[in-house]
Amino acid sequence: MTTLTGKKIVVVGGSSGIGFGVAAAALEHGADVVIVGRSEDKLRAAEKRLGGVGRVTRIAADMASEADVARLFDTGGAFDHLVATAGTPPPNDPIGETDMDFVRGFVDGKLVGAVMLAKYAVRKLNKGGSMIFTSGINKDRPPVPGGSVVSAVAGSFTYFARALALEIAPTRVNIVSPGWVDTEMWDEIVGEAKTGYFEQMGARIPAGRIARPADIAPAYLYLMQNAFMTGETVHIDGGQRLV
Ligand SMILES: NC(=O)c1ccc[n+]([C@@H]2O[C@H](COP(=O)([O-])OP(=O)(O)OC[C@H]3O[C@@H](n4cnc5c(N)ncnc54)[C@H](OP(=O)(O)O)[C@@H]3O)[C@@H](O)[C@H]2O)c1
Repeated sequence: MTTLTGKKIVVVGGSSGIGFGVAAAALEHGADVVIVGRSEDKLRAAEKRLGGVGRVTRIAADMASEADVARLFDTGGAFDHLVATAGTPPPNDPIGETDMDFVRGFVDGKLVGAVMLAKYAVRKLNKGGSMIFTSGINKDRPPVPGGSVVSAVAGSFTYFARALALEIAPTRVNIVSPGWVDTEMWDEIVGEAKTGYFEQMGARIPAGRIARPADIAPAYLYLMQNAFMTGETVHIDGGQRLV
C-alpha cells in the first residue's frame, strides 16, 4: 500500500456526505485535499469543519458545466487522486410520468459530469494516480417504482471504469458502490422520515445499521493506496445487497 502523506486529492462532492467523509479521512492520513462543490457557502462551512489548516483548498465548480470542470483542473494544478462523489437526488417517478428535463439534469450532473471530470483530470494526474467514481446500491436493488433511471446510471459506472482503466493505464480507475449512507442527501429526499427509513433498513441488513460516511471512506482510501486495484467496483453496503 502506498502512503497518502503529501498526496493531493481532489474530492468533487467534498462539501457534504460521503465526499466530506473521504476528505476528512484523507486529511487524517496526511493528504492535502481540494474540496469541490457548487455552493461556496457549503464549501466554506466544510473547510471549517475539516479544520485541516493549510491542507484544505476549496474550489466552487459545477461538474455538469464543461467550462467549470476545465477551470477546476486549470487552477487546481497537478494532483494524485480524483474522487467524485457528487450527485443530486435521483428521479423517482414511475416511467409513465417521467419528467425528461429532470432526467437529463440528473444524467448530466452524474454521468456526463464524470466523463468531463475524467477528460480534464487525466491531463493533470501525477504518475501513480487514480480516479474513483461513485455508483450505488440502486443498480443491484432497484427501488420501485421509479428506480430505472438511477439504476441505469449507477450500473453504467462499472463499465465506464473497466473501459477507462484500459484506456488510461497505468492511471487506475475504480468505482465505490455504497449501500444507504446517512447523509444530507437523505434530508433532502425524505426529510424527517429519514429516521424511520433508517431504523427499518438497519434492522434488515446484516450490519444492523445504516452506514455513516466514515464507514464508507476507507473504501476510497484503499482504492487510492492499493496500486494493484483498477477497473474494479467495490461494494460497501453492510450486506444490503443480500436482503
Ligand atoms: N447517501 C446514500 O445513501 C448513497 C447511497 C448510494 C450512493 N450514493 C451516491 O453517492 C453520491 C454522494 O451522495 P451523498 O449522500 O454524499 O450526497 P450529499 O450529502 O448530498 O453530497 C453531495 C455533494 O455533491 C456536491 N454536488 C452535487 N451536485 C454537484 C455538481 N453538479 N457539481 C459539483 N458538486 C456537486 C454537493 O455540493 P453542492 O450542492 O454545493 O454542489 C455535495 O458536496 C451521490 O451520487 C449518491 O447518488 C449515496
